[in-house]
Amino acid sequence: MEKERILSGMRPTGRLHLGNYLGALSNWVKLQDRYECFFMIADWHTLTDRTDTKGLKQDIKDVLIDWLCAGLNPEKSTLFVQSHVPEHAELHLLLSMITPIPWLERCPTYKEKLEMGQENNYGLLGYPVLQAADILIYKANKVPVGEDQVAHLELSREIARRFNHLYDHVFPEPAPLLSETVKILGLDGKKKMGKSYDNYISLSEEPRIIEEKTQGMFTDPKKIYLGDPGHPQECNVYSYHQIFGKFLGENLEQIFKDCKEGALACTTCKKNLAHLLINYLAPFRQKRKELEKESLDKILNKGKEIASRLATSTLREVKKAMQML
Ligand code: TRP
Repeated sequence: MEKERILSGMRPTGRLHLGNYLGALSNWVKLQDRYECFFMIADWHTLTDRTDTKGLKQDIKDVLIDWLCAGLNPEKSTLFVQSHVPEHAELHLLLSMITPIPWLERCPTYKEKLEMGQENNYGLLGYPVLQAADILIYKANKVPVGEDQVAHLELSREIARRFNHLYDHVFPEPAPLLSETVKILGLDGKKKMGKSYDNYISLSEEPRIIEEKTQGMFTDPKKIYLGDPGHPQECNVYSYHQIFGKFLGENLEQIFKDCKEGALACTTCKKNLAHLLINYLAPFRQKRKELEKESLDKILNKGKEIASRLATSTLREVKKAMQML
């Protein structure tokens, strides 16, 4: 039986952090054996809110390196950069002709970005149309996405339906693949981990920085001195121990008890966490050092070749259905 096809993408935000890994990437790694996978670095999408393109090349490379460190395997999956396959842009143009503007205006991410004061440019409004082109050009059946992307995917499905109805049945309707992922809050314990909030630990973070960042973490405000009883169930540092403790075989019950009884000082608890994270991330740092010396062009060229073949063939079908060949 043929494997179902998956496409997903990430914008090139540079080095990835624990939130990216636990929320998406670690899941992608698992999907590689069950599906035919296409993973894309969405560099065009990043231009919707980034005019300064200095450093973009390095950011793309950094994402790719972190993907490889996490276990994405170019022998199993097609890893490529969006702009290396210009067919996406042509399909985006054609799909834009059948996408009513109100569909785009009611998109929650679009509204949020405007509220945040972002420039209301044409590309930003069309973001989901480009995303639809990314997915549909590979006739992907499934798209692993986080909850914040579900509305975008719904739009891709609507655009696919509209095209199929108006012209010919070319596109399967892509379904979201919502997997069980571990949710990790940022170091501030308030927002989700994100680069723009400066509350993250990257996969390649240096041990010294991990120590600094964890020492700065917010703990239970009711616990100030050693001896004060803590409330681990409300403490972000404890939630990190819950996520990563398994890794070094920590005795979580003991930590819980010691914190509650006041036997464990927050600074010690945070030092232990730093130790845990340094160990957890050691293989990433090691692998990154090796990969940084290599040229990764071979991987991206291979990805481009495989992706282009499929994209070109779908685009032909599209144009044929539209009587444009
Ligand atoms: N919009 C996605 C994000 O910001 C990235 C993306 C671009 C994507 N094209 C895609 C994700 C296609 C899934 C499928 O995370």
